[in-house]
Amino acid sequence: MLNIVVCVSGGGTNLQAIIDAIDSGKLLNTKIVKVISNNANAFALERAKNAGIEGVCVSPKDYADRETFNEAFLAELNKSNPDLIVLAGFLVVIPEIVINAYRGKIINIHPSLIPSFCGTGYYGLKVHEAALERGVKITGATVHYVDEGTDTGPIIMQKAVEVKEDDTPKTLQRRVMEEAEWIILPESIGKIAKEKE
Ligand code: GAR
Repeated sequence: MLNIVVCVSGGGTNLQAIIDAIDSGKLLNTKIVKVISNNANAFALERAKNAGIEGVCVSPKDYADRETFNEAFLAELNKSNPDLIVLAGFLVVIPEIVINAYRGKIINIHPSLIPSFCGTGYYGLKVHEAALERGVKITGATVHYVDEGTDTGPIIMQKAVEVKEDDTPKTLQRRVMEEAEWIILPESIGKIAKEKE
């Protein structure tokens, strides 16, 4: 069994895709042991609750400085002793102490075809705004391992998505989620679960 902790910041549709893939039997040998949010109001925490999964908030706002937050975040992860940490729309830069403690055991979903539209400042809708501004005809999503850089770790899976003439950042974001993110994130976890067998 691959025990995973899912880290979230917002709506949690990618978390939902993982929950649904486990429930439907598409994603085997995987258990979500905890959901961690940096945002107490994240709808993702509701999704965790509805699925009977423990959800906790560890917010930088509740700590005196970044170092204390980083230690609290690591301590929360350690409590669950996860085999894999899944960043599913987690908008906190992962501190080095966590990368060192879980090297090769952290994956992230990014809403573009890396190396396009990635790195510092590219998150959420901003990625799709940049893709439309550049006029690309194809975009997509990438699941990759997390290292010290921003979106620089080894790529696990990618899926291309067509950009339509009349797309807005929001319509494009939705299509990338539906046609790529919600598919390749559970599939990537399944691949890692299989490798662990
Ligand atoms: C997703 O599109 C995810 O790829 C993106 O945030 C969104 C979260 O949505 N992540 C990044 O931009 C990371 N750089 P969700 O909360 O509905 O899963």
